[in-house]
Amino acid sequence: MGAAMSRPAPKSFHVKSFGCQMNVYDGARMAELLEGQGMSAAESADEADLIVLNTCHIREKAAEKVYSDIGRIVKKAEGDKPMIAVAGCVAQAEGAEIPRRAPAVDIVVGPQAYHNLPRLVAEAAEGKRALDTDMPAASKFDALPKRRRQGPTAFLTVQEGCDKFCTYCVVPYTRGAEISRPWAAIVDEAKALVDAGAREITLLGQNVNAWAGEDGAGRPQGLDGLIRALDALPGLARLRYTTSHPNDMSDGLIAAHGEVAKLMPFLHLPVQAGSDRILKAMNRSHDAASYLELIDRVRAVRPDIAISGDFIVGFPGETEAEFEETLTIIRAVNHAQAFSFKYSPRPGTPAATMDGQIAAAVMDERLQRLQALLNEQQHGFNLATVGRRCDVLIERDGKKPGQRIGKSPWLQSVIVENGPAIGELVTVDIVAAGPNSLNGVVVAEQKAA
Ligand code: 5AD
Ligand code: SF4
Repeated sequence: MGAAMSRPAPKSFHVKSFGCQMNVYDGARMAELLEGQGMSAAESADEADLIVLNTCHIREKAAEKVYSDIGRIVKKAEGDKPMIAVAGCVAQAEGAEIPRRAPAVDIVVGPQAYHNLPRLVAEAAEGKRALDTDMPAASKFDALPKRRRQGPTAFLTVQEGCDKFCTYCVVPYTRGAEISRPWAAIVDEAKALVDAGAREITLLGQNVNAWAGEDGAGRPQGLDGLIRALDALPGLARLRYTTSHPNDMSDGLIAAHGEVAKLMPFLHLPVQAGSDRILKAMNRSHDAASYLELIDRVRAVRPDIAISGDFIVGFPGETEAEFEETLTIIRAVNHAQAFSFKYSPRPGTPAATMDGQIAAAVMDERLQRLQALLNEQQHGFNLATVGRRCDVLIERDGKKPGQRIGKSPWLQSVIVENGPAIGELVTVDIVAAGPNSLNGVVVAEQKAA
């Protein structure tokens, strides 16, 4: 069992994040926290004394995947097993069930408790089973170290949790109620990220556009106010935000898309389905017409904005005609990109026990048709960029020597040949487009914004 025996404190760690961008952010913060304790980041899980599995619970048999991952780690280690921590939403949802099923797990830590990792690691080293899935009122963010060592693009969580309770979704249960981080904490973290090398910041939240707070002068502000404040940060070139809910798309935020220079022309605004009956059963509290009207208003202030979304096929009771209404709304919106999923029953959610669960084969077929349409739209959007001149923020090396890959304002990957440095913002002529990326030629270097 190992639970009673003490062991050496881990010297190296590896964090493996699954799922959404908020997990990527949490994973980065856990890494910084562990480094602050004097541990070093191992190149791979094989070389680490501590492995953190930062898990996702949104769809499918995510928990099952975690258990098979744990099995693989134990098998590979042949006796001298690393310390294993399960973090993220599976940890929150399954809690003490995890070490019961997988005794090799030493630590279980939820998404609102990971600032306690150093204490949990110490407990595990003493041979105790360490579990923390509390959702404290006090912010974990205050207990985390300052941001450092940052690539050109950074995530910054400004909002967490969800009060919307869509009937298919587990997030309100695993991430808890909607909370907004304070204005000053966000501005400070953004400054630290820029000082550490970030040129682009993506503000994150399960419902990021529900962010609400007060500025330094005590005036109430929404996400648009925060974006306008961050727009003034010297050294920062670009701002993005994700994920938004249609109901929280305020007039101010829409206006910001037409006015704030650093706010990129990209909006991820999931509609999920096109049938009003299904949207109601999903508890979405918007309908197809109000969604389309919203998109029109955004396009009125920013005609070139790239629209992205999430879609679920095969929600319980979805008829063929209702599915086709989803295709209809997709055609009406015309997306730059989108994510689409087969409905996956989540334990404890209302939809999981609804009548009319859809057969897997039907869902497969619907997803294929939906994705064919979305792929066509994405390729069309990319082709429409050919001939345009735009800024590209260089993020990483490409496959071939001298090649670099960066992002256009519309979040497309752009491959450039004549090798500007990573972190540079360069002007590029787009010369070709495929379904998943663009090719560009660098025109001239830009001055730092
Ligand atoms: N089944 C399928 N997709 C889901 N999503 C959330 N819950 C489920 C589920 N139970 C999708 C939604 C959401 C995205 C993050 O994941 O489209 O916007
Ligand atoms: Fe889940 Fe709906 Fe909340 Fe999005 S808005 S996190 S889909 S409950």
